[in-house]
Amino acid sequence: MAANANAVKIAPSILAADFARLGEQVQAIEAAGADWVHVDAMDGQFVPNITFGPLIAAAVKRSSALPIDLHAMIAEPERQIRAFADAGASLLTVHAEATVHLHRLVHDIKHAGMLAGVAVNPATPLDAVKWIAPDLDLLLVMSINPGWGGQKFLALALPKLHEARRLLDAAGSTAELEVDGGVDTETAAACVAAGATVLVAGTAVFGAAVGIPAAIRRLRDAAAAAVQRIV
Ligand code: DX5
Ligand code: ZN
Repeated sequence: MAANANAVKIAPSILAADFARLGEQVQAIEAAGADWVHVDAMDGQFVPNITFGPLIAAAVKRSSALPIDLHAMIAEPERQIRAFADAGASLLTVHAEATVHLHRLVHDIKHAGMLAGVAVNPATPLDAVKWIAPDLDLLLVMSINPGWGGQKFLALALPKLHEARRLLDAAGSTAELEVDGGVDTETAAACVAAGATVLVAGTAVFGAAVGIPAAIRRLRDAAAAAVQRIV
């Protein structure tokens, strides 16, 4: 199933934002037409870096009406479901590598009133999510090793997105297919052509010399051009 131009979502990651002006920065992406705000929680255990958790997610929630796409790069994510739900996350994505009870975790996220996503690191086979594909609201294919923004897009993500697209379609799933890491105007088109429906971009939005509105417009244009090539 080819992605539809209007259906491709842009989810700027606040990891690259100026935290001293977080509210303003979130309002800027909202005004520029972002679809979601991507919030990267890191705990210094599942990934080496530490960022923030539910308190900052709640502050983002107070700043705008954008749905919060919470990417939890944390160990024992089971313990934080309620906190992220209370913070106002619309969608909670956990890593397949962070739990041995992924099926139960996905359903616990839904029971807490959020949409449920699962992320897979670059080395993790998509088999990890094959049997729960019908239960997912989102599948996140990492195109970097998680932990920091500003890393180079890993080319392996493209065939993996293709495989993920086939897996979701075969399961009859309408889950979003998200890609995260090194997504910019150069790599966005290939991701959409491979089946991605949500583009996460940190540096390419908040670090863009052209400014936030032009950066988001360029990502959208790149996505739309890719969609036109498919159909
Ligand atoms: C990294 C995070 C990403 C990060 C992407 O572990 O999951 O969301 O913000 O940053 P860029 O777009 O700069 O690669
Ligand atoms: Zn992320």
